[in-house]
Amino acid sequence: MKRVTTVDDLRRQLAVWRGAGDRIALVPTMGNLHAGHLELVQQARQLADRVVVSIFVNPMQFSAGEDFDGYPRTLDQDIIRLSDAGADLLFQPGEAEIYRRPLENETLVEVPNISDILCGAFRPGHFVGVATVVCKLLNMSQPNLALFGEKDYQQLLVICRMVEDLSIPVEIRGVPTVREEDGLALSSRNSYLSLEERARAPSIYRVLRETASAIIGGDKEYHRLEQMALSRLAEAGLKPDYFVIRRAQDLGVPAPGDEELVILATACLGRARLIDNLKLSAM
Ligand code: PAJ
Repeated sequence: MKRVTTVDDLRRQLAVWRGAGDRIALVPTMGNLHAGHLELVQQARQLADRVVVSIFVNPMQFSAGEDFDGYPRTLDQDIIRLSDAGADLLFQPGEAEIYRRPLENETLVEVPNISDILCGAFRPGHFVGVATVVCKLLNMSQPNLALFGEKDYQQLLVICRMVEDLSIPVEIRGVPTVREEDGLALSSRNSYLSLEERARAPSIYRVLRETASAIIGGDKEYHRLEQMALSRLAEAGLKPDYFVIRRAQDLGVPAPGDEELVILATACLGRARLIDNLKLSAM
């Protein structure tokens, strides 16, 4: 696996591959790689000739008081995992390579409305930081396709909307969530959980599934289902930020007859903020 830290070196290598007719996939990450990230790399290998992975802990998507400084950084281990997974190139820029100016003077990419609800309401500015850095990474590498996890469902929709609105010539692919055996979605932030919290964490997926079963069984009283789910999460010792049933396409409140739904939940447990969702189609 090749490794580059500058945009010039990245573009030089990609020009060689593109010249040879290779199709290029980009997998943006913040590192501390686990099997969820590696699934994106595997999928990318199926769909492209060359797989580029970026590792950049993006300061712009963390608010003051969040875990930017403490975010797990495990570069040596990440490099071994990516080589084993068959990635072709690792782009690991320093902060000055991505942001040429102090963050407050940078040009921003804002995807309205969808960035302000759910996680965006609890983390103001977060999706501006995500959209801005992903836009930059796409411009720096100009891949044929880029892959993102469905675990961060709202993030995936924000990125799809940005690509559409800004006419960025790239195909965006969502990849299903990779889970532990007990259902907990893999996440870099799971390392913040104590043993006791780790044992309670799968309740978020359990409650998502119970709610999905009720909907599939014909229950359409979504507000009541959401309230019940919030109580169950609290009983399990989690502090939910939200638990909502929404339209899968745009996260709007479902109208009668809407069939493509997604249930989204976020809950705090100790130092960790768990995030998960379950998509339901054509009930
Ligand atoms: P990060 O949290 O490192 O995640 C990188 C990618 O891996 C994202 O697309 C995320 O949705 C996906 N991912 C994480 N856990 C997953 C799981 N259990 N199953 C499947 N995919 C999973 O998300 C980010 O970084 C950043 O916001 C980023 C997009 C890189 C912009 O900075």
